[in-house]
Amino acid sequence: MKGSRTKLTPVTRRLVTEVYGRLDYEALGPVYCYEGGDEFWQAKRGPCDRLGSRVAVALKRKLGRGGRSLYVGAGVAELPTLIMETVEIGRTVEPYNLRRAEVAALNSACHSIPLTFRFADAASAKGRFDHLWIVSVLNDPERFPHLSPLSYGQSNPLTLDPLKFEKERRIVRALVAHCMGKLARPGLVTTTTEEVLWIAEWCHRHRVPYRVGKRSYPTALVGDPICFIHIGRADKRAG
Ligand SMILES: C[S@@+](CC[C@H](N)C(=O)[O-])C[C@H]1O[C@@H](n2cnc3c(N)ncnc32)[C@H](O)[C@@H]1O
Repeated sequence: MKGSRTKLTPVTRRLVTEVYGRLDYEALGPVYCYEGGDEFWQAKRGPCDRLGSRVAVALKRKLGRGGRSLYVGAGVAELPTLIMETVEIGRTVEPYNLRRAEVAALNSACHSIPLTFRFADAASAKGRFDHLWIVSVLNDPERFPHLSPLSYGQSNPLTLDPLKFEKERRIVRALVAHCMGKLARPGLVTTTTEEVLWIAEWCHRHRVPYRVGKRSYPTALVGDPICFIHIGRADKRAG
């Protein structure tokens, strides 16, 4: 079926709704918030679907058929894009996540789709990808408590621990290097405006041209706006 450039196909829409309907929100409660899991998901489920689908439409316009996408830290918010790539444009997706309970809940909800989340470090992914998705990972306050406040411009010079910050920066740079090393050129990176600098730094160090798209897209859970970065060629297409 020839898909629309401005909408997801009815099949994708149906699958996205089905998967969001099947998710075990009780199991997901403690993964995303410590209290009030039910209320949290009642409020966030709709925005995840709606905003995620908007990004999925934008991504569909940028990706070719039949390539491979590496998703780092993919969770509930990524479902529309993962489903769109898999069922609508025939791509292979490899989503990685280090939260065991979330991976189990996602895989159980996705049993009717050829989509499997991996409980593993994305740096261990094998082969080449032409799309890297890394959204709200490099600035995650849970994993990088000393680096994250700087990313958000909220650091406190009185409490900053330079040694712990430096250790976290090394981990972030290594993860970026592992993932960017697997990206074909030209390639596409989907990330957030807060994380662009890490990708840009890698490109500068490796003398790889890149262009950050002008448009950004709001996200439902973390709230960091998503943007696209074209890697490896001076791409003139907007946004
Ligand atoms: C703040 S959450 C963001 C989740 C989702 N991308 C979103 O925007 O709602 C960060 C996620 O990145 C995952 N993560 C961090 N480092 C990772 C790595 N090296 N490989 C795979 N997942 C990773 C964590 O397990 C967590 O699920």
